[in-house]
Amino acid sequence: MPKLPAPPLPKILQPKPQRPGTTVEPEHGPLTEGAIATVDWIDERTSLSGGIRWMLFRKVPRGINWFYTLGSATMFAFLSQAVTGVFLAMYYRPDPTGGAYESIRYITDQAFLGQFVRGMHKWGASVMVILIFLHMARVFFFGAYKYPRELTWIVGVTLLILTLVMGFTGYLLPFDQRSYWATIVGVNINGTGPFIGPYLSDFLRAGPEFGANTLSRFYAIHMLLVPAAIVALIGLHLYLITKLGISAPPWLKAEDEPEVIEASEV
Ligand code: HEM
Repeated sequence: MPKLPAPPLPKILQPKPQRPGTTVEPEHGPLTEGAIATVDWIDERTSLSGGIRWMLFRKVPRGINWFYTLGSATMFAFLSQAVTGVFLAMYYRPDPTGGAYESIRYITDQAFLGQFVRGMHKWGASVMVILIFLHMARVFFFGAYKYPRELTWIVGVTLLILTLVMGFTGYLLPFDQRSYWATIVGVNINGTGPFIGPYLSDFLRAGPEFGANTLSRFYAIHMLLVPAAIVALIGLHLYLITKLGISAPPWLKAEDEPEVIEASEV
């Protein structure tokens, strides 16, 4: 594959040529100059701009459309869940003897913007599930899962399962009648799965019966285990996407003129 040249630095970050002994009048306001100097200072010591350019300034195929934004939309739904989840965790208590239910009531009725943040987290969960399915449908109907993107698809399937696990484990946390009984049904359904089913339901319940540790188990899975796995897998997903490039829409015809490839690159 012919190598594309590195994309240029954004104009604002390109250094101007300077004669020795002359002083250059600043082109921007003090705030912008300060920001540029800070970015320069960090980049001189880390060379991070190369990596950021590799990640952000990319060529995309002709003819891509709004359907290609569904993956990023899913990612922003996840980020919103992460931010609102952190604020909920500041008040939530995973205490099955009434503390969990009370802490949720406190968030909803008394904490500053609590009802808003809880509402965003609750509705955001459904938004993320809808977006992930739409993104998967786009990838499927555009045939974007085919060679060489099979691994991107497999990582995606794992992300889908983990997203559903987030929904399932989060549902128990308010610890009201509905979430309690719905989770018992859900854990029992898991238990009927072949081979690993009984082990899975024992793991989820933190024992053979739904008990005092079940809520802590669900909380740990919901706010530590699965989000960490999702962050790592989104990183891998994005790495593969940047490495392989976005697939062209299936209706795009091949160019009439075949691309000239240098003999040394064949
Ligand atoms: C948390 C969940 C997910 C996030 C944040 C995510 C993010 C993204 C992003 C940003 C892209 C770039 C292009 C686009 O948006 O269409 C992409 C592409 C892709 N995703 Fe996902 N994705 C997720 C879940 C999934 C799932 C569930 C699947 C399939 C089972 C999947 C398979 C793919 C494939 C094959 C591509 C390459 C598409 C192409 O090159 O045209 N992803 N993903």
